[in-house]
Amino acid sequence: MLLLIFLLAAVTQSVVSQLSLPESPWLPPDASKGAIPSNSGGTPNPQWSTLLGNLLYFYEAQRSGTLPSTNRVSWRNDSCTSDGSDVGLDLSGGYYDAGDYIKVSFPLSFTIMSICWGATDFGKGYDLANQTAYLDDMLRWGLDWLIKMHPSNDTLYIEVADTGIDNAYWGGDQNIPGPRPSYQINDTHPGTDAAASVSAAFSSCSNLYAGRGFNAAQAYQPPASLQNSSYADTLLRHAQQLYSFAVNASGGQVTYQTSTPIATESYASSGFGDDLAIAALFLAAATNSSSYYQDANSFYQKFNLHGQNAVFNWDSKTPGVYVLFAQLAQANYPFASDLSSWQTESERYFDTIVNDNGDSSLTNGGLLFYDGDSDDASLNPALNAAMLLTRYAAIASSPDKTTSYLNYASRQLDYALGKNPMSVPYVVGVNPNSPSNPHSAMASGGDDIGNIDTVPEKEAYVLYGAVIGGPDKRDRFFDIRSDWPETEVALDYNAPMLTLAAMHVLNDTNDPFYTSLQDGAYAQVKPQGSPCDDAIDDGCSGPRLSTGAKVAIAVVVTVVGLIILGLLAWYIWTVRGNRKAKTG
Ligand SMILES: *[C@@H]1O[C@H](CO)[C@@H](O)[C@H](O)[C@H]1NC(C)=O
Ligand SMILES: *[C@@H]1O[C@H](CO)[C@@H](O)[C@H](O)[C@H]1NC(C)=O
Ligand SMILES: *[C@@H]1O[C@H](CO)[C@@H](O)[C@H](O)[C@H]1NC(C)=O
Ligand SMILES: *[C@@H]1O[C@H](CO)[C@@H](O)[C@H](O)[C@H]1NC(C)=O
Ligand SMILES: *[C@@H]1O[C@H](CO)[C@@H](O)[C@H](O)[C@H]1NC(C)=O
Ligand SMILES: *[C@@H]1O[C@H](CO)[C@@H](O)[C@H](O)[C@H]1NC(C)=O
Ligand SMILES: *[C@@H]1O[C@H](CO)[C@@H](O)[C@H](O)[C@H]1NC(C)=O
Ligand SMILES: *[C@@H]1O[C@H](CO)[C@@H](O)[C@H](O)[C@H]1NC(C)=O
Repeated sequence: MLLLIFLLAAVTQSVVSQLSLPESPWLPPDASKGAIPSNSGGTPNPQWSTLLGNLLYFYEAQRSGTLPSTNRVSWRNDSCTSDGSDVGLDLSGGYYDAGDYIKVSFPLSFTIMSICWGATDFGKGYDLANQTAYLDDMLRWGLDWLIKMHPSNDTLYIEVADTGIDNAYWGGDQNIPGPRPSYQINDTHPGTDAAASVSAAFSSCSNLYAGRGFNAAQAYQPPASLQNSSYADTLLRHAQQLYSFAVNASGGQVTYQTSTPIATESYASSGFGDDLAIAALFLAAATNSSSYYQDANSFYQKFNLHGQNAVFNWDSKTPGVYVLFAQLAQANYPFASDLSSWQTESERYFDTIVNDNGDSSLTNGGLLFYDGDSDDASLNPALNAAMLLTRYAAIASSPDKTTSYLNYASRQLDYALGKNPMSVPYVVGVNPNSPSNPHSAMASGGDDIGNIDTVPEKEAYVLYGAVIGGPDKRDRFFDIRSDWPETEVALDYNAPMLTLAAMHVLNDTNDPFYTSLQDGAYAQVKPQGSPCDDAIDDGCSGPRLSTGAKVAIAVVVTVVGLIILGLLAWYIWTVRGNRKAKTG
């Protein structure tokens, strides 16, 4: 009997280790439901709540390891359950990175940091959408795995899988090929960026679980039901250890691919100043301690982080540093009083985007586009900018700026949700016009790597809630599985839209744009020509010209040619002839 009680207690313990999920699980509705305007007129808007649920559900489909009994994705199986056995550890679990099966800590840490930061600001949106338990479940699946990847103070595993073997596989989750080696950084072979970035994931989530918000306004707070101080403490401990490792490793401060060259095959880092600064700032917030804040300031100086116009993404966190400095100043941390100078720097950065003055420009259809960074996943830079603008808007130095930033952010989000020249919302399964061929080995149902577009003809499973790469610079979108720059899915692609959706659940009485796509005004558009990108170059010979244009060009070429010939003849007969005459 005592044993029974003990067992019962143990079972109950494991059940309450996180928020309990609803008895009848929330499941994504059929895409056709996204064509029906809600006409709700209030908040929370049910269509935004559904989008939020979908965006979270995507992460569940990406799970690795032994799936829990609460798994909602019926077509997923347990997989890669012996990850880590090569190093005598259990490194199973976590998330597959994208359309493939590698598990990588550096980009995952950015995704998790981004989601926790977003939920710290707009967490009530998750509550109103009844999605907080799923947020908790999603975060813990990632954080508990990152905890396993950090088995001692100065050891962090950064990848499980061989990228080369993985790239050569296209198939389901039952036959994922091995070996899947585990790669680590450590005291003698460090990785400053990876250690600092994972630290930032832990500390930003510690803030969320501790209920440490940055904003006094009622709407902008972490969800109360998520709070768990013991989990927040655990996360903070890992964050502090990893930060010390990043700063003080005896191997010095280096990019992580210096120590683990495998990283160059997927997510090589271009530097670590941004990672150190953001890690120090989140720790300053988590501990209310001026020494981390002073560190952040000195990294900011040392690595020249001011004045940048870069994108915000897994490799480029500096724009987030500007905003976080401003948030800490506004939240009245005693050591962070300099709001106006952080407003100046943040607004320099945002005004450059909004006024089209920096490294970016708008496509004809209105998508924020950075040559280079936007080429292989165009929506990600635009959505990350929209997310930062939306967060920062409340701190802006004038009401005009607040309005201009929110409007700009809304236009980018609208574009991603269907207000674009293709009339395609770039999220799988939310509307009849949604993409139907996301580049995802597990969702495709195919196992023929030479024919991934046609085997099978129709994608086997709907990967609900997946944000895909996005259209090209000419706003064209080709719904082709092998065109990975346009159709691949990835953990970090969903993150900014999740935060934006949480804000819109809180604050937007109108539906996401796509519910208006089927009212007749916006027929889905077929792109012209063929793709021209890093996956498919059939269309790279340039746009086809009309017959009229060809005739015009032929005429110009002929006329110019005749003029040149005429000049040449004149030169030979007169100039050279004269010279001959003079010398002769
Ligand atoms: C808080 O989180 C810890 C660690 O996961 C867990 O053991 C505990 O049961 C949680 N407490 C509550 C009240 O959910
Ligand atoms: C959330 O749950 C409450 C209580 O069950 C319900 O009234 C409400 O409609 C739900 N909201 C959404 C967006 O599902
Ligand atoms: C999971 O297993 C089932 C049954 O074998 C299979 O039909 C399904 O395709 C598998 N899922 C994936 C993603 O491979
Ligand atoms: C430290 O990391 C390097 C690079 O991954 C690895 O070669 C080395 O074996 C590790 N050291 C220890 C003691 O595990
Ligand atoms: C690990 O880091 C903690 C601080 O978080 C420290 O107290 C402990 O001594 C460290 N352990 C080792 C073995 O260095
Ligand atoms: C780095 O090492 C120095 C010297 O031991 C120490 O004073 C400092 O606190 C350490 N920094 C961190 C972030 O652990
Ligand atoms: C930080 O600590 C100071 C005391 O040094 C306290 O007055 C302040 O309220 C704390 N701030 C936060 C955000 O916890
Ligand atoms: C939310 O709505 C209020 C009231 O309309 C507005 O003042 C505020 O700027 C909005 N916030 C965001 C982030 O859109």
